[in-house]
Amino acid sequence: MEHLTPWTIDSWRSRPVAQSPLWPDEAHLERVEAELATKPPLVFAGEARRLRGQLADAAAGNAFLLQAGDCAESFAEGSADFIRDKLKVILQMAVALTYAGGVPVVKIGRIAGQFAKPRSDNFEERDGVRLDAFRGHIVNGEAFTEQERRPNPDRLLMAYHQSVATLNLLRAFTTGGFASLTRVHAWNQEFVSNSPEGKRYELLADDIERAMTFMRSCGIDMADDHALQAVDFYTSHEALILPYEQALTRQDSLTGDFYDCSAHFLWIGDRTRQLDGGHVEFLRGVANPLGLKVGPSTTVEGLRTLVSTLNPDNTPGRLTLIARMGHDKVSDLLGPLVEALQADGASVLWTSDPMHGNTFKAAGGIKTRRFDDILSEVTQFFAVHQSLGTWPGGLHVELTGSDVTECLGGGHDLTESDLTTNYTSICDPRLNASQGLDMAFRVAELLQRAGSGARSL
Ligand code: TRP
Ligand code: MN
Repeated sequence: MEHLTPWTIDSWRSRPVAQSPLWPDEAHLERVEAELATKPPLVFAGEARRLRGQLADAAAGNAFLLQAGDCAESFAEGSADFIRDKLKVILQMAVALTYAGGVPVVKIGRIAGQFAKPRSDNFEERDGVRLDAFRGHIVNGEAFTEQERRPNPDRLLMAYHQSVATLNLLRAFTTGGFASLTRVHAWNQEFVSNSPEGKRYELLADDIERAMTFMRSCGIDMADDHALQAVDFYTSHEALILPYEQALTRQDSLTGDFYDCSAHFLWIGDRTRQLDGGHVEFLRGVANPLGLKVGPSTTVEGLRTLVSTLNPDNTPGRLTLIARMGHDKVSDLLGPLVEALQADGASVLWTSDPMHGNTFKAAGGIKTRRFDDILSEVTQFFAVHQSLGTWPGGLHVELTGSDVTECLGGGHDLTESDLTTNYTSICDPRLNASQGLDMAFRVAELLQRAGSGARSL
């Protein structure tokens, strides 16, 4: 098979690379790649290995993965407030899943590097004018002007610097006291606390506070307990722009393995998972834990080959499969895939991305998703795993910490006429903070039920 050719850091360059921007100036791109290659890594190999270990626990049914963040991060939303509010809702969701769902939760953000978007068309036409499609801020700008849409390699450096700054603040927040379980109430933002799920969260936070007070009264020194004070929070993005990913790849001095140090976890999109394509070739050779989006066109044989290519040693925690089928397809399409890998004894972590198969255009051409469709896909995802005796290991969602109006339904029951009130996504519609929290409570209930059957704790 073709993958028997040895992997090198640039062996992907001799493969077809889907979704590559049409860079107008190759020499400019090469200069930027050379500069990026001299920069410090964002993450360390040891951290990626630690995450792989935690994902192995999840694959074994002993933990649950929460992966959440923007569809596409924006250069305009890199401020401390945006980062803090995104982290708040992710911590709220994690606490709800841990407490109400009764499982340890592995936390990964779609953050500090999630800047690139695949597009169905290289070009976009408006009123007879044809320009490059918007591919995320790491490539070009969303404004429909010649200047903004021209792919600009300097944006790779801008993406790197914003990722550095974002990750720096995340590390401070998650280890410096902000994420401490003594602060559960502080993560509930005002606009969330007025919603039904915000109120539900207050009750849960009260419970946790009582438990903490009790433990303190028993003489346990809470201030010193790392597990209560800090969280392991990991970063991830779709590894789409391979020149960027290669430039940030480093050889680990301890093991000799290559790690893509742009993030802890990288995933391959549904549009770039061609077996002989550049993305699969590049990622099979880095030792980070990987994700693979599994859309409705995935065949059993296609998936088997991808799984053995990306995880030839069947290492637990190495490969997370992110099913994104659509609420109307998941119950038919998912089962045969799960069953085949189960029969092969493949160690994979199955998670559900209930967002991407449920996008549609509302009146006025606005892209949206229904909360109920999203919930329906997750519920069916759990049902499929329940029927096969496999573990529904995680939830992958697009959300933001602000009070956006991009998805329909949820606690505030947003309708189509609300969509224009605060629609700020530069790409797909995201859950707002209360919709995200609502989702976490629903999934926690599903987890409670799943826990008694599939899991041996
Ligand atoms: N460290 C534990 C964990 O990550 C407990 C914890 C501390 C926690 N702060 C948290 C859990 C915030 C969820 C959210 O699970
Ligand atoms: Mn998206």
